[in-house]
Amino acid sequence: MIEELRKIQEKCCGCQKCSLYKTRKNIVFSSGIPNNKLVLVGEAPGYWEDVKGEPFVGKAGQLLDKIFACVGLSREKDVYICNTIKCRPPENRDPLPEEKEACREYLDAQLEILKPKIILICGRVALNSLLGDIGGITKVRGKWFEGPYGAKMMPIFHPSYLLRNDSREKGSPKWLMWQDIKEVKRVYEELK
Ligand code: URA
Repeated sequence: MIEELRKIQEKCCGCQKCSLYKTRKNIVFSSGIPNNKLVLVGEAPGYWEDVKGEPFVGKAGQLLDKIFACVGLSREKDVYICNTIKCRPPENRDPLPEEKEACREYLDAQLEILKPKIILICGRVALNSLLGDIGGITKVRGKWFEGPYGAKMMPIFHPSYLLRNDSREKGSPKWLMWQDIKEVKRVYEELK
C-alpha cells in the first residue's frame, strides 16, 4: 500500500498536466497514516500547505486536528488526509474544472489503493468533485452516501467555514460538526 502510494506521489511530483505547476512551491499529496478505514478529502492546498508540502497545516488544519482529537482520532494513528487537487490555486481561488479534471487521477489512485471504508468529504469543492451536484453542503452534511469500493462517504463542513462562525449553540455549524464527528466515530468503531 505504502509503496503504491509512493509511486503515485512520485508521478504527481513531476506533474505538469495543468497550469498550477507554474505557481506551486510544492505538491501537496497527503498527510496522516495510510489506512483502509478513514480518509478525509479536502479542497485544495492553501498558502501554508504549498509552503510545507502537507495538507491542512494552516489554521483550518489545526482546527481539523482538534475536531478529530475530540473523538480520540488523529492523523498520526487513524486518518489519511488528501485534497481534490494537489497544487495551490493562486490567491486560494476555487480550483477550475480543468484543474480538478487533470488532478483527478491522483485522488482516484489514492482511493483505489487505500479502499477506505469511510471517506469524509470536507467542504463544498470536495463535495462537488466526489458527489456532483447533489445540493449544498449545508443540506447534505452529516448524511451517509455510497462511495467507491463500498465506502461510506459523509460530507462535513470545511474547518475554515467553522473558523468564520464562532457560535457553539445548538444548530450552529460548530455544533453540527460535533454531531457529525461523533457519528463518524461511532461508525469507525464498528469497523474494528
Ligand atoms: N483547506 C483544504 O481544503 N485543504 C488543505 O490542505 C488546506 C486547507
